[in-house]
Order: sequence, then structure tokens, then C-alpha cells
Amino acid sequence: MIIETPRMRLHPVSASDIDDLVLLDSDPEVMRHVSGGLPTARAEITDWVLPRAQSHLRSARGGLWVARHRQSGRFLGWVSLRHPRHSSRSELELSYRLARRWWGRGLATEAADALIAVAFGTMGAERIFATTTAANIGSRRVMEKLGMFVTWVAVPADDADPDLAEVEYELARVHWELGQAPTIPIRRIVTDRRAPGGRHRLATTSEFTFIATGAG
Ligand SMILES: CC(C)(COP(=O)(O)OP(=O)(O)OC[C@H]1O[C@@H](n2cnc3c(N)ncnc32)[C@H](O)[C@@H]1OP(=O)(O)O)[C@@H](O)C(=O)NCCC(=O)NCCS
Repeated sequence: MIIETPRMRLHPVSASDIDDLVLLDSDPEVMRHVSGGLPTARAEITDWVLPRAQSHLRSARGGLWVARHRQSGRFLGWVSLRHPRHSSRSELELSYRLARRWWGRGLATEAADALIAVAFGTMGAERIFATTTAANIGSRRVMEKLGMFVTWVAVPADDADPDLAEVEYELARVHWELGQAPTIPIRRIVTDRRAPGGRHRLATTSEFTFIATGAG
């Protein structure tokens, strides 16, 4: 399925996109909050990222769409939806990554907005969620602009570095359909796989004054 937005064409990833994907992940700034700045090996993209995305598309459990400029066809980045392997919920995880030169123009929000419509529409999801590090302000701002809300915050168990805290945002179908804020803005999901016993513990959002408590 090719998705068109006002400025972009989003097409399912294919082998012809591999060079662009490798180049995208070779920028340490792009990878800063993803892998600590490390690039992704070409073999990982060809042998794992591409086949997995194509398998998700075939089974209608998500997919990875490459974003190109509508007029010029220039590579901008990608957006993806993925059903978590062990989840029995009707949910899809949203992710996005753009080349640095295109940041700050509203493109990630525009592309993600279009994918959310597909996720709640043809894919029939009940919940979209996305996670990032607390320090990834740009990514969190995209989620807030999409109308998503913080569901939990997980911090390193030893509280070593608050920047390593992880934040999950979600958008429920009912709120997307109504286009309005939930009445209960924050809740903690105690079944999160990172806690207890892992390297993270769940924290209340009040421990983080810089975590937004609702879409701004
Ligand atoms: C995160 C990312 C996708 C955002 O893409 P984008 O096209 O620049 O996003 P948008 O322009 O739609 O929105 C970004 C918002 O964050 C804001 N922002 C970005 N960095 C910020 C910062 N350091 N402090 C405050 N606001 C910031 C922008 O001003 C903008 O908000 P605004 O529209 O209210 O001004 C892009 O930076 C990226 O690809 N980063 C690397 C990969 C990554 O981190 N992906 C997410 C992993 S979960």
C-alpha cells in the first residue's frame, strides 16, 4: 500500500532502498537516541530489517514505509508500524527516523499521522504506542503533536543516568476518533517487561518534571 501525504509518498520498503537506509543509519546524530550513535551494519538491514518489514506487511501486522518527497522522489527517511511479537493486544508500535537535513519541518509528524490513520483504519488497531528515551525531546514532541499521551516512564534501576529513562506514549482508537484528550491522562502499566527485576524500574511521571503530562 502506497500512502500519500501533502508532501510525501510513503512506499513499502524494498531492496532498492537499502543504500538509503544504510546511509541514514550512518549519521551518529540520527542514531544518537537509537543506538548511542552507532551505525547499523548493512548486513543487519539486508538480512533482518528488510525481511522482517516485508513479512509484517504480508501478514498485515505492520510494515516499514520509506518516505520520499512527492515531487523530487528524494529519500527523507522512514516510518513504521509493528505488532509486538508476544502481545495479545490489538496494538501497533509506531517508529520513525528521518535524515538530519529534513528535521524540523513537520515531516515526521505528517508521515506518522498518515500511518496512524492506516493503523486505526485498514489495520483495525485499538491502540498505537511509541517509546523513546526521555532525552529524545524531538521524538517526544512528535508524539505529543500526534495527540499521544504518556503511559509510563521506566528509569535505570540504579538511577544512574536519568537521560536513559524510557517513556511510552499511546493513542487509543477512541481518542483518535473523538479527537479529544483522555480524561485520565497518565497511568502506569505495571506489567511492563522492563520492571521489576530488569535493568529498569517504573517511575511516576512526577519524578520527571520535563515529561509532558498531556498533548501540548
Ligand atoms: C525524531 C524525529 C523523527 C523528528 O522528526 P521531525 O521531522 O524533525 O519532526 P517534526 O518536525 O514533525 O517535529 C519535531 C518537533 O520537535 C521539536 N524539537 C526537536 N528537537 C527539540 C529540542 N531539542 N528541544 C525542543 N524541541 C525540539 C521541534 O521544534 C518540533 O516541534 P514544533 O513543531 O512544536 O516546533 C527526527 O529528529 C529523527 O529522525 N531523529 C533521529 C531518529 C529518532 O530519534 N527517532 C525516534 C526514535 S524513538
